[in-house]
Amino acid sequence: MVFLMLQKQNAVSGMSTPLLHKAYDSNLFKEEGEALIAQIAQHLEDTVSGSSNKVINWKEPGDEYTFWKEFVSQDHTTASFFKTVLERSIHTHHPKYIGHQISPTVPVSALATLLSAQLNNGAAVYEMGAAAIALERLVVELFGQKIGYKNGDGFLTSGGTLANLTALLAARRTKASTNIWNDGHDKKLAILVSEEAHYCVDRSARIMGLGTDGIIKIPVNKKYEIDTELLEVYYSSANSNGFDVIAIVGSAPSTSTGIYDDLDAIAAFAKAKNIWFHIDAAHGGAAIFSNKYKHLLKGAQKADSIIIDGHKMMGTSAITTAVLFKESTSSYAAFEQKAQYLWEKNDDPEWFNLAKRTFECTKSMMSLRFYAIINAYGIQFFDDFVTTLYDAGRKFAQYIKEQPDFELALEPISNIVCFRYTGIEGDLNDINQKIRRILLEDGTFYIVATTLRGDYYLRTTFMNPFTTATHTEQLLHKIRTIVLELKTSQ
Ligand SMILES: Cc1ncc(COP(=O)(O)O)c(C=O)c1O
Repeated sequence: MVFLMLQKQNAVSGMSTPLLHKAYDSNLFKEEGEALIAQIAQHLEDTVSGSSNKVINWKEPGDEYTFWKEFVSQDHTTASFFKTVLERSIHTHHPKYIGHQISPTVPVSALATLLSAQLNNGAAVYEMGAAAIALERLVVELFGQKIGYKNGDGFLTSGGTLANLTALLAARRTKASTNIWNDGHDKKLAILVSEEAHYCVDRSARIMGLGTDGIIKIPVNKKYEIDTELLEVYYSSANSNGFDVIAIVGSAPSTSTGIYDDLDAIAAFAKAKNIWFHIDAAHGGAAIFSNKYKHLLKGAQKADSIIIDGHKMMGTSAITTAVLFKESTSSYAAFEQKAQYLWEKNDDPEWFNLAKRTFECTKSMMSLRFYAIINAYGIQFFDDFVTTLYDAGRKFAQYIKEQPDFELALEPISNIVCFRYTGIEGDLNDINQKIRRILLEDGTFYIVATTLRGDYYLRTTFMNPFTTATHTEQLLHKIRTIVLELKTSQ
């Protein structure tokens, strides 16, 4: 009887075990944390200076899996675990990382992420994330002001993909003639989007039940902008095929080419047709902070919604995206949900209970990642960051144009530059594919590739403000060496 009572007491008071005490030990955390910070600082020094040899230590997926399977079967200290992860990961802070669009995190933003990871506040419900939520409102106000919204609002969410979906749900709620959220589909809906838009727009539309035919892909013009001359034709044809067009999406810029659509022209079309205008500015929305490049977003203030990734062109750690709406009320349009356990007043907008507006229920404290940067360096940081990187892209393009054995795919207007090696007879698609593969396996540089009008191009995105002309000269030299080796091995 006494034993039973004791068991019951332990269950109620939740007596912790020695293991639990160890897992939460503050001294151990300090010791391991200081060691980790020292490791990251060393990594930062080695990568930014370019003194570490490789950007990536490429291993085939199966080999990497085998490595980790063996690793986790042995005992390792936390320091050895972290060190091994660090060594076997791609180094976005290396100036020869010129690949996909992800920022080399500004260290202070990484520190903010560490703080938020440890606090683990849920920044979607006010009581659970007061500081993060108030800061989020300030971040949103800053974006709104820079875009030129007079009555705007918005929130942060987990990535550009989710942000595009959220904005398009708001578009559907606002522009569809029925309430699909409650009643389901009874009409064929469609959106207009450039054929060069990021695949996540297509994915969002499919999630929303628009189907293949509801995603109307508009061809691009010679400059790779959505061809605004064709909008009327595609719109009318959709109408005559029984579709209600609810929205048009502009890219700022599109991912493969880095080309901004003509936002002003799209805005005029959207207004004339009374459809929603959304801008996917995941990559280049940050240019609103650049005095030199903000003109690329001319017309953005007329968009009903726009999304901007912090982890692309603003230096924050992933994954951190702003979804902004021209009208404050639209920011509540995507989701209508009753959740009595979270908030008391369903009908009150309660700006501070962000779960009413976001897909996430538990949301990370993303605002800290922006504000840590703003707090330390001011918003001038974003101008310096974007301007330096866009300048670097243009400079590299100019250099490519001066090389007789390389070809520029198109004149870049941002930090995305597509080019290929042409100094050899033969199938250029095949040769450039080989070049890219050898570069990946070699690991001295990291660049990616894309296909434009059926041709394969090498693709670079200048994400690192410390990538200089010397690095890009070395890249071309490396490519020439690869081609020589390919020739001799034939
Ligand atoms: C234009 C564009 N939109 C959306 C996305 C997806 O953003 P995220 O990776 O944050 O989900 C990307 C990613 O590269 C992008 O380039």
